[in-house]
Amino acid sequence: MIEIQSSDTILDLKSGRLIGSHLKRTTTTIGDLRNYFKDRTALNRMDPDQAVYWVEMEENKQKEGEEGGLFFGISHLCCGTVGDEFFMTKGHVHNKFDTAEYYWGIKGTGLLLLDNLKGSSRLIEVKPGAVLYIPGRTAHRLINIGNEELAVGAVWQTISGHNYGRGAQLFHNRVTKVGNSYQVTEA
Ligand code: F6R
Ligand code: MN
Repeated sequence: MIEIQSSDTILDLKSGRLIGSHLKRTTTTIGDLRNYFKDRTALNRMDPDQAVYWVEMEENKQKEGEEGGLFFGISHLCCGTVGDEFFMTKGHVHNKFDTAEYYWGIKGTGLLLLDNLKGSSRLIEVKPGAVLYIPGRTAHRLINIGNEELAVGAVWQTISGHNYGRGAQLFHNRVTKVGNSYQVTEA
């Protein structure tokens, strides 16, 4: 006799939201991103409590730093700009430098900025269904270039940890809004 269980957590593929009773949500605001956007005047005019992105995860299933486990999270990046720079995540490299990660697009349109910290950068389009592999030793940041929320799934190792460097210094490029499109400039 084998017991059939239903999963604790459901990913609603339409909204990109997790449904379940053991979830945690971490919000990052304009105030938290003070050192990340270039246009400080525009930033200072905005509400520091305005949410730029939030990440939802299952709570207390795995522990940070534990060998062998995986984390599963959904990043929800609002649409907007600071000056002409699109809303983006802080971006990081993993503390455990060699650990890779998978992202996949669920909702909205964005870009994944990858920087190998040796002078080579790549931008990959993020759209629903896109599967994106982030190799180890690579800084990664999501940018919302669309007109709606960008929802992106992620799976990474519990040993990975996050190193945010010092502000935007991990990345050598910025993505700004030009008309209905975007432009990439050196940071
Ligand atoms: C985990 C990962 C994502 C990001 C999330 C928020 O390793 O890459 O879950 O943590 O998109 O971005 P950051 O962590 O850069 O603020
Ligand atoms: Mn990561």
